[in-house]
Amino acid sequence: MTLKEKLAIKAKPINDALEKYLRIREPKKLYNASAHIPLAGGKRLRPVMALITCDMVGGDSNKAIPFATALETIHNFTLVHDDVMDDDDLRHGVDACHTIYGLSTAILAGDTLFAYAFEMITDSDVEDFIKADLVKNVAYVVRKIAEGQQMDINFEEEETVDASEYLEMIRLKTSILFGAAAYGGAKIGGTTEKEARELEQMATDVGLGFQIWDDYLDATASEEILGKPSGSDIRQGKRTLLAIEALNRTNETDRTRLINILDSKNNDKDVKEAVIIMERCGALEACHKQANGYLEGARKTLSKYPQNEARQLFEELLEYMVTRGH
Ligand code: IPE
Ligand code: IPE
Ligand code: MG
Ligand code: MG
Ligand code: MG
Repeated sequence: MTLKEKLAIKAKPINDALEKYLRIREPKKLYNASAHIPLAGGKRLRPVMALITCDMVGGDSNKAIPFATALETIHNFTLVHDDVMDDDDLRHGVDACHTIYGLSTAILAGDTLFAYAFEMITDSDVEDFIKADLVKNVAYVVRKIAEGQQMDINFEEEETVDASEYLEMIRLKTSILFGAAAYGGAKIGGTTEKEARELEQMATDVGLGFQIWDDYLDATASEEILGKPSGSDIRQGKRTLLAIEALNRTNETDRTRLINILDSKNNDKDVKEAVIIMERCGALEACHKQANGYLEGARKTLSKYPQNEARQLFEELLEYMVTRGH
């Protein structure tokens, strides 16, 4: 079986739960808008990570399905709002929520998806003290995502951002949600707090690699493959690691040109030119290496677990997160 097929099997109960929860009620416009992006597609990486972590620590991952589904509605809530902030009009291969339903309803659809997550977690078949822990952890993570997203927006206005500031921003906006997936899956699976925190740390680290790789794909892959706009980060002037590395490495002429492209309204030709500059100075290659580098530590953590199917799948999932293709 290919990894894609294995992941599809794991994602099936998540998709079923999403269909069930996201049924259309009144006012229809709100519920149609809420269901639009989550039901259009997505890789389901966070919920699948929660289920696999639960399996790996010897738990019953059926019990983790509501929690895992909650992670996916949280993720989609952040996507709906992110597309407003990033001014992107394509997501999961379909028109973005705000493009179809308008800004006001997109804000409400995001809120609705956010609220569903807590209904799902409290519907879980786990003991109350675990539920309380999961609710607290997820609420904390969402607040941190907001911090990361604000930093992301702030950085657009800055000429230079250093790599450590960028890493903190992506840790907040992206990677700690992966951490929460591993932590929650491990807790539902009955493991100790210490072990759950270790798995959380591992998933958070690979989550950094995931975002670096997402930035890489944004610059290099096509819209058809991404299901979202290509080159959006450059058009928006995002200070991604690619941009930071390029600004640090390149010669003065290219540097001035790159800053100019990042900081002004630009067309597809300018975006292509920026990618060429990133390539020429070795920034693309450096990001590719850095994203992959997070796998080493993760493999070390995983090596403590019995060599079984769940661990194998976990390893493959982590690798996919930082190598998923063009
Ligand atoms: C996209 O995440 C948002 C980021 C944090 C980069 P995914 O690539 O996991 O989104 P899906 O699979 O399209 O839902
Ligand atoms: C998204 O980062 C992070 C969150 C949605 C919280 P990006 O802005 O890079 O995500 P994409 O590329 O639009 O999916
Ligand atoms: Mg975006
Ligand atoms: Mg964004
Ligand atoms: Mg992106």
